[in-house]
Amino acid sequence: MIHIDYTNMLAPTVSGGVPQSDWAKADSLFAGAHAEFERRRAAGELGFLDLPGDAALHRQSTDYATRTRGKFDDVVVLGIGGSALGPVALRTALCKPYWNMLDAGERDMRPRLHVLDNLDPTTITALLAQVRLERTLFVVTSKSGGTAETMAQYLVVRDRLERERLAVRDHIVFVTDPKKGALRPVATAENIPALDIPANVGGRFSVLCPVGVLPAALVGIDTARLLAGAGEMAQRCSGSALRENPAAVFATLQYLADVKAGKHIHVLMPYSDALRDCASWFVQLWAESLGKVRPTDHEHVGPTPLASLGATDQHSQVQLFMEGTANKTITLISAPPRDRDVTIPKLHQDIPELAYLGGHALGEVLDVERRATAGALALRGRPNMTIELDAVDAWHVGALMMLLEVATVHAGALYGVNPLDQPGVELGKNFTYAIMGRPGSHAAKQEWDRLPKPDPQYRV
Ligand code: PA5
Repeated sequence: MIHIDYTNMLAPTVSGGVPQSDWAKADSLFAGAHAEFERRRAAGELGFLDLPGDAALHRQSTDYATRTRGKFDDVVVLGIGGSALGPVALRTALCKPYWNMLDAGERDMRPRLHVLDNLDPTTITALLAQVRLERTLFVVTSKSGGTAETMAQYLVVRDRLERERLAVRDHIVFVTDPKKGALRPVATAENIPALDIPANVGGRFSVLCPVGVLPAALVGIDTARLLAGAGEMAQRCSGSALRENPAAVFATLQYLADVKAGKHIHVLMPYSDALRDCASWFVQLWAESLGKVRPTDHEHVGPTPLASLGATDQHSQVQLFMEGTANKTITLISAPPRDRDVTIPKLHQDIPELAYLGGHALGEVLDVERRATAGALALRGRPNMTIELDAVDAWHVGALMMLLEVATVHAGALYGVNPLDQPGVELGKNFTYAIMGRPGSHAAKQEWDRLPKPDPQYRV
């Protein structure tokens, strides 16, 4: 089960928290957001809600994984943004730790999983030098089928495969829109397997379709449980009663903290190494969905998300959270250890700084540190909440991701922006196309040419 404890989000319990008067009025505020959610759902815009129940789509991934079982030592996902962060989060959360360093037996004869989410030639060269191409599968993931970074990676990899005289269709699988984009016609013409990203599922909401589920199935993650957890959470987050709906509570409190209490930075801080990349996944979800120009008044809105890790970042960021500018909410995630706990031996019983630890378990200490940090933040007037997971397993990770996806749509409605688009990234992309000479970029090229050029007097 997943619960949210938001005691520490509210004033006066926590002096910098959401004023009780605002929280008391939040039901009617959320009613508007819920109505907008229902409108989008009825219009078929929220395809991510249907993914847990789409057995045929799930089978695309599991059938492919079954068909190719034992053929690959390495799987390399080529993708960026929503096409990369989901697979990384699932690998870190649900594969054994240090997965790619384990030998084949420890991996249950499943492949290693790499995600190339950048164009840095050094990384790509190093990875291609490390894998045996004849035992490697490349998953080319792009909803649009046109993203420059992913297409460039695909061209590099394809060329390598061809030069090694390996059949492209045996070593590449596309994950892309069912109809649009550059990859579909290539798949059709060359009989390259291609799995679907439903048309109404955008990149950062796509982890529960083949974008995340195919890599997960290939490495043996229980994708049925992942989707079951997500499905149950979607159900729990569908109601209009704010205080019974965890996604609604999360979104509404974060929104109120931002606009009523000046908490413009939203930190997600799991106390679990397994969940650290879920925090990075959330950062993209929250940032790209909510950082927008609000169409009704042209205001620039949206919180700044930040990923953190307990207890590691207690020795890095928590000083700032405690005493820096009071502009943050901190959402801690509590979870029991994924595997068995480790008892700290009772050594050095004569040294007080060491003796008190003996006999306790590492996971126990980690959880005590989480509670201590939450309390300390509260005492200093720093609002925080805790998402409590009963376990770190496929069910709970699916449920957590669905909770945060639904919350993001609710937050979009509260901020008055469309959480499903990302117009702000287009200009930079168009300039790239213009500079690279992609056909159809004439207008962008003219705009680019009008920009001020670097001025030597401002160069040091
Ligand atoms: O969330 C999004 O829509 C983006 O971050 C995309 O995932 C990212 O730009 C990659 O796009 P695509 O999957 O079309 O290659």
